[in-house]
Amino acid sequence: MTQHLPYAAYPATRMRRNRLHDWRRRLTRETKLSTDDLILAMVVHDGQEARIPVDSMPATFRYSHTEAVAVAQEAESLGIPMIAVFPFIDPALKDAKGSEAFNANGLVPEVIAAMKRAAPNLGLMTDVALDPFTNHGHDGLIDDNGMMLNDPTIEALVAQAILEARAGADVVAPSDMTDGRVGAIRAGLDGAGFQDVAIMSYAAKYASAFYGPYRDAIGSQRALKGDKKTYQMDPGNSDEALHEVALDLHEGADMVMVKPGLAYLDIVRRVKDAFGVPTYAFQVSGEYAMMEAAIANGWLDGERVRMETLTCFKRAGADGIITYWALEAAKRLA
Ligand code: PBG
Repeated sequence: MTQHLPYAAYPATRMRRNRLHDWRRRLTRETKLSTDDLILAMVVHDGQEARIPVDSMPATFRYSHTEAVAVAQEAESLGIPMIAVFPFIDPALKDAKGSEAFNANGLVPEVIAAMKRAAPNLGLMTDVALDPFTNHGHDGLIDDNGMMLNDPTIEALVAQAILEARAGADVVAPSDMTDGRVGAIRAGLDGAGFQDVAIMSYAAKYASAFYGPYRDAIGSQRALKGDKKTYQMDPGNSDEALHEVALDLHEGADMVMVKPGLAYLDIVRRVKDAFGVPTYAFQVSGEYAMMEAAIANGWLDGERVRMETLTCFKRAGADGIITYWALEAAKRLA
């Protein structure tokens, strides 16, 4: 092996030389995390209480409208490019069809309109999926056996995306994994005059156990009947992720996402290498919970694991990371 290397070997070459001082490490570092890489994941609710803690996500909250606006201003002033907003819907408003998703005066449209007014230079992204709004916890419409219906769901998602765009969403992010929704949403947005609203597709989204704490945060866990394996991807698959991404790009996705994050960095790398398009990864609730729990126990150094994991996403090829840690990371990077 050694004789084929084009470089001089030990002792002429000592790899540790470039690691000996902070300045050398900075000079040779390949990947640097920046605030520009961060998308803040944030849960909002309709009540008065400013911050409701989420049990399974220490130091993460459901924010009231007023508090969400304050956080948006903070994010904007820290230079975070975009916030991804997720709603906790009052269980009394949930039904089988997710009707509340189509209420123009509902939680999401009202909050993002207010955030947009208060922080005009901050990008706002909204999820397109019905799970926060359905009493069965699935991302779309289901039949009597609990099977998610593809084509009727697409129609609902198009209506939801247009409503979000009208309220001020800059990027809509279909997270439901039905087939054909990206193309339909693109056509719907264009038809409604929202040519400049971008689509970040949850293109390679896996049926993962790492979403558990998020489902607590938005209150869909208790509601969820069955699992999401008939629409989300099997964790053993990787080629299929490329197929999914290819289709979503063909349908008009501007940005693609891989989700979850840390356990799926090989997928991020393959997608980035294969397509060379804006590629994002979601550091999901379960990853956050897992590390925060260990941090709370004093088993992990919080500041270091936050910055390390976020940097690793970027090293793997992500152009940005959707993370509950965006504020902490941005403060650290400031
Ligand atoms: C569902 C949705 C999920 C997340 C974002 N949108 C979970 C799911 O598919 O059940 C997960 C976010 C997280 O775990 O942090 N439309």
